[in-house]
Amino acid sequence: MRVVILGSGRGSNAEAILLAKQAGRLGSAEVVQIFSDKAGAGILALGPRFDVPAAFLDAAPFKTKLEGEGEARYIAAINACRPDLVVLAGFMRVIKPGFLQAFAGRIINLHPSLLPSFPGLDGIGQAWRRGVKIAGCTVHHVTAEVDGGPIIDQAAVRIEPADTLESFTENIHAAEHALLPAVIARLSNPQS
Ligand code: GAR
Repeated sequence: MRVVILGSGRGSNAEAILLAKQAGRLGSAEVVQIFSDKAGAGILALGPRFDVPAAFLDAAPFKTKLEGEGEARYIAAINACRPDLVVLAGFMRVIKPGFLQAFAGRIINLHPSLLPSFPGLDGIGQAWRRGVKIAGCTVHHVTAEVDGGPIIDQAAVRIEPADTLESFTENIHAAEHALLPAVIARLSNPQS
């Protein structure tokens, strides 16, 4: 299963996927390309480290969505990778119908909350401020509704009295780093 990862940030989840591959825990999935809409993003440094092509791909003209010329650039570049799965791992743009149609049923997203609670920006901060006792993360299929597509799997994280926003954030990231590679491995071996 050919996987293309899109991300905008430090890339800790892309790193978890690549480490899972090294450890033989990614099923038949292989990461064939990483793209980032941020030129200096940490995720791009994973390319040389893991011997995977990694490139900045301009998503202009818009800042928070993938539409117009930027969307066309992404569709062409990703199509050239012949992906079976497109993984949004901290890709901080709203996906529009053109991209959804180009990769229909093949796009998954990671979100740092137990959806449908706390969609949108800063899912971790939203859960923290709301004072929930059970938080977590979600991997879901991407549809036109932001963070609203069918849920594939989730992992729960309990917030303990001694937690701080920092320790809670670390716990969410640790849960994400286990969940996302496990989901990709399962999708690559659907019979298992
Ligand atoms: C992750 O926590 C992911 O859940 C979140 O961005 C972070 C990326 O971290 N995604 C969203 O909030 C999407 N709405 P990373 O760059 O270290 O993988």
